[in-house]
Amino acid sequence: MTATVPANARSSLASFYDSVIGKKVVMAVTGLILFGFVVVHMLGNLQIYLGPQAINRYAELLRVSPGLLWGARLVLLGAVGLHILTALQLAKRKMDARPQGYQKYTPTTSSYASRTMLWSGPILAAFIVYHLLHLTVGSVHGDFREMQVYHNVVSGFRVIPVSIAYIVAMAALGIHMHHGVWSLFQSLGVAHPRYTPLLKKFAAAAAVVVVAGNISIPVSVMLGILK
Ligand code: HEM
Repeated sequence: MTATVPANARSSLASFYDSVIGKKVVMAVTGLILFGFVVVHMLGNLQIYLGPQAINRYAELLRVSPGLLWGARLVLLGAVGLHILTALQLAKRKMDARPQGYQKYTPTTSSYASRTMLWSGPILAAFIVYHLLHLTVGSVHGDFREMQVYHNVVSGFRVIPVSIAYIVAMAALGIHMHHGVWSLFQSLGVAHPRYTPLLKKFAAAAAVVVVAGNISIPVSVMLGILK
């Protein structure tokens, strides 16, 4: 038996995705998946402070079930792909709606936020490609050893320009998360005047914790705390 989606259900899904609110919901849901990944990944990364055995074991655990690992990778890849595609479509719509630009441009809070998303997003996309080649594939790492995460991270961050590139990317991640986490609540309709200050504080705190946790690793290597 093959499962078929009724034509009217398919077309209403397509017209929902075609609407601005539909695209914002897709940005919010995929953003939420990526936010969850970034928090869990940062907690996993911090195990480096427990020593080589702990972090290397974490990598081994990841590979115990290849089905689960590849399932999670596909969800992540799908979320990143859809997030980028939808962001480009939304940006194009905005440009098409106002191709001439403003006579006198006065930046507002929301245009400041969306402008920062448009440069922090591409920096993050480039970082993810570099990061996978650096610490997962190892092709841009001078001394990569299969399954030896502790060694790969410490020897990788001993190269100062690499550590600086990671720190810059983490700053972009912080800015992207700060605006992104707050606006995903708005897109999902969770924002309410009463909760707005709390949600804004949550978005800022989450960004600071993730960025500080991740940045501490290259900084600790450069200071000789991790060796
Ligand atoms: C200083 C910060 C970071 C460190 C030290 C770090 C470390 C690592 C390491 C060691 C791996 C390889 C794990 C393994 O193959 O066993 C990895 C994989 C990965 N990292 Fe990071 N990471 C950092 C930040 C980030 C950020 C900010 C993102 C996303 C925006 C990210 C996304 C990924 C992804 C998607 C993978 C591949 C996971 C897989 O195997 O499918 N990482 N990271």
